[in-house]
Amino acid sequence: ARFRDASEASKRVAHEIARLIRQRASENRRCVLGLATGSTPIRVYRELVRMHREENLSFFNVVTFNLDEYFPIKPESPQSYHRFMNENLFNHVDIIRSNVHIPSGTVPLENAPGYCRDYEDLILKFGGIDLQLLGIGRTGHIGFNEPGSTRDTLTRMVRLDSLTRKDAAKDFGELDRVPLLAITMGVDTIMQSKRIRLLAFGEHKARIVQQALQNRMSSALPASYLRQHPDMQYLVDGAAASCL
Ligand code: GLP
Repeated sequence: ARFRDASEASKRVAHEIARLIRQRASENRRCVLGLATGSTPIRVYRELVRMHREENLSFFNVVTFNLDEYFPIKPESPQSYHRFMNENLFNHVDIIRSNVHIPSGTVPLENAPGYCRDYEDLILKFGGIDLQLLGIGRTGHIGFNEPGSTRDTLTRMVRLDSLTRKDAAKDFGELDRVPLLAITMGVDTIMQSKRIRLLAFGEHKARIVQQALQNRMSSALPASYLRQHPDMQYLVDGAAASCL
């Protein structure tokens, strides 16, 4: 779906999330959200915070799993996704802290495979992700599933693409400070979500959005796999839709 601007699209998704949270609350059930970082979802979180403050939207029944985190990185580091999520959402709502899950940037390297399996198991234990929010990187990555990530991948340690590191250099000050690795949910982890909502805004996303929707499905472009999902929506602004 194409929207007038990023703000319209973000509100649409935020309102869908709020409806889901409230519906589950009315049934005394938890709502499991898959969350994303980057500049794209910021307005969604802003709208959710506004609804918490002004419209009694409570997060007491919400469980979250973030897609990814750089590795290694300390949670208090300015570029960490832990910090991003706290500053943009968790610090401003009534979510129960033990319901928040973000891949660790500090787990000892040798424990990472077991850690990633546990992350995957925990998602299943909560009954899977009800709604996964996604952005898209210019390499066609979702989470940090860079080109080469196959359809069957699960949560794991990955090496970042050089274009992704270049795009992240502005956040880290210089390229050499951008971590080489990350922990990310896999393509299959994402595909198991019941609903997927992908946001893409701006001219710099136009080409990759077009390719993700129209190129042959393959691991060369991990976002192309999303087309197989039964409840997947792209929400784009005019600039990101300009190559369609
Ligand atoms: C990072 C994140 C992705 C995100 C992408 C796009 O690589 N790991 O989840 O989709 O950046 O970022 P932005 O939304 O800032 O364009």
